[in-house]
Amino acid sequence: MCGIFGYIGDKDPLKTCLAGLEQLEYRGYDSTGIAGIAEGAISTYKEAGKLSLLKQKINLSRLDLAIGHTRWATHGKVTYENAHPHLDSSQSIALVHNGIIENYDSLREELKSRGIPFLSETDSEVIVQLISSHYQGNLVDAVYKTLPLLKGAFAIALIHKDHPDQIVAAARESPLAIAYNDDCTESLISSDQNAFLGTSLNVLFLMGDEIALIQKGAIHIFDQALQPVEKKTERFKNDYKAPSKEGFAHFMRKEISEQPQTIQKAFDGRFTPDFEPIGISLEELKSMRHIWILGCGTSAHAGHIGAMYFEDLVKIPSSCDIASEARYRDPILGPDTLVIALSQSGETADTLAALREAKKQGCRILGICNVQNSTLTRETDGSIFLKAGPEVSVCSTKAFTSQLAVLNLLALHLSHIRGRLSPALAVHYVDKLKQIPSHIQQVLDQAADIERLAQKYAAYEDFFFMGRRYMFPTAQEAALKLKEISYVNANGCPAGELKHGPLALINPSFPVVAFCANIRTQEKILSNLMEVKARGGPILAFAPQGLNAVADVADDVFWLPPTIDELSPFASAIAGQLLAYFIAKERGCDIDQPRNLAKSVTVE
Ligand code: M6R
Repeated sequence: MCGIFGYIGDKDPLKTCLAGLEQLEYRGYDSTGIAGIAEGAISTYKEAGKLSLLKQKINLSRLDLAIGHTRWATHGKVTYENAHPHLDSSQSIALVHNGIIENYDSLREELKSRGIPFLSETDSEVIVQLISSHYQGNLVDAVYKTLPLLKGAFAIALIHKDHPDQIVAAARESPLAIAYNDDCTESLISSDQNAFLGTSLNVLFLMGDEIALIQKGAIHIFDQALQPVEKKTERFKNDYKAPSKEGFAHFMRKEISEQPQTIQKAFDGRFTPDFEPIGISLEELKSMRHIWILGCGTSAHAGHIGAMYFEDLVKIPSSCDIASEARYRDPILGPDTLVIALSQSGETADTLAALREAKKQGCRILGICNVQNSTLTRETDGSIFLKAGPEVSVCSTKAFTSQLAVLNLLALHLSHIRGRLSPALAVHYVDKLKQIPSHIQQVLDQAADIERLAQKYAAYEDFFFMGRRYMFPTAQEAALKLKEISYVNANGCPAGELKHGPLALINPSFPVVAFCANIRTQEKILSNLMEVKARGGPILAFAPQGLNAVADVADDVFWLPPTIDELSPFASAIAGQLLAYFIAKERGCDIDQPRNLAKSVTVE
């Protein structure tokens, strides 16, 4: 993961870099650092902690230029030594890196055998030492000689004390955007163009081992053979407004509460037959014989539910794979496979890699994403935006329900254009769908009840979250919420699978959170609850109003507004999000920035 930002120009490079890094902290917040050049020497400022810590301690002296980094640790613990920027042993070059160098160990041993000392445990320090060993007065040339030696994916930016007018950057598979303004007063680099604040800029993206020489208002790009290349630039203006918690204690709580509105936005312009153009023609959509959904984490959970929508409503074979597994499988795909890549950020490395594999097999790729100008939207044939607004909390909430809303409407649309949707079903389904924002509001209005339940269950260290059919991925999603922000062991389990092994773990200190809203499997889940109760496991059930039998078995029940099975994940998901939030609050956890995680996972 990690975020890279760099600045050279008329503004204060250090302050500009700090502002840029603030936008990139979603990519990692284990440590931060900045390097610049002042009076012919490299100055570095690093902290083994969040950017706020660095800001408190930094000495705001004027630099000629600056590069900065927010780290999500891969190689080496969260320490000052492992924080970027890394310097070569002559203290002449400073480098920041995003990505992973797979052959770093052998390169490091080789450099050590030549007497080059290492201060950190990182793979990144290997790059700067290698570049230094090739440096003979020309930084671009040294980078050019180094890149073929590196295996893996990376984006790098570096400076040399003898070149206070240049930043050099290079990228392979990891995103790196470079920008300059029209009047040649500034140039910037960033892992994400959305971190370029305010001004109108010309933006280009490095790829395939391209190297950039970045000077004030001027950029020169070289290809793998060190030949100059003309890159197409895009105009970019960021109308950025700093995200605010709007009175809530955490972004997560605010984002949970926004869902009646964000779902409404996801609905806009997408009720069939008026589904907005998606970049893939109706004829092509009609000819698809298989739908393959890709995603990670929460997006994969939405994808598993989406696959059920496509099978239930469109009657087309559909499946969802976790992208990190999918990229190393050899699935049978072709031009009649519609691949749907789901990602809130549009930057998840595994999802991007998996869709690139599918592309090689001639599939059409549709991205469903929350971030405009993301890598995903540049690499897919068509895109649908979630329009959920910035999701700041690492724990994904509103993006999940917007993904469900879009997948629902897309399934209805495909069903319609393929002649499978009867007018009566369409009316019934759309009617139910339109009730969802108000159902969500009903759950939000009872947040205090969920908080009381959270207080009761907050001390347990282990949980199973179980459900059947639509409620199985919903339970998995709720378990993910709890584990990532509360550091509690919570696992999603298909309820019918408990007796095949997991039931052995149940005892009075191992509760089960049961998602009971899938009506078709109602009786089955009631039997599963009995099995848990018989082993002394405490049961908290999320059940639809009317399913009174649940109250006879469960220790606690939170009642949900009833709906059809397909739409049951919405209200259940909100209940799960609130439960996780209040348990994390009760346990005093860092809710918006949980340990070890980052908002955008840009490494494999
Ligand atoms: O941006 P994406 O949707 O591609 O991110 C995928 C996962 O990294 C993400 O959903 C992650 O699991 C969240 N932290 C879950 O809350």
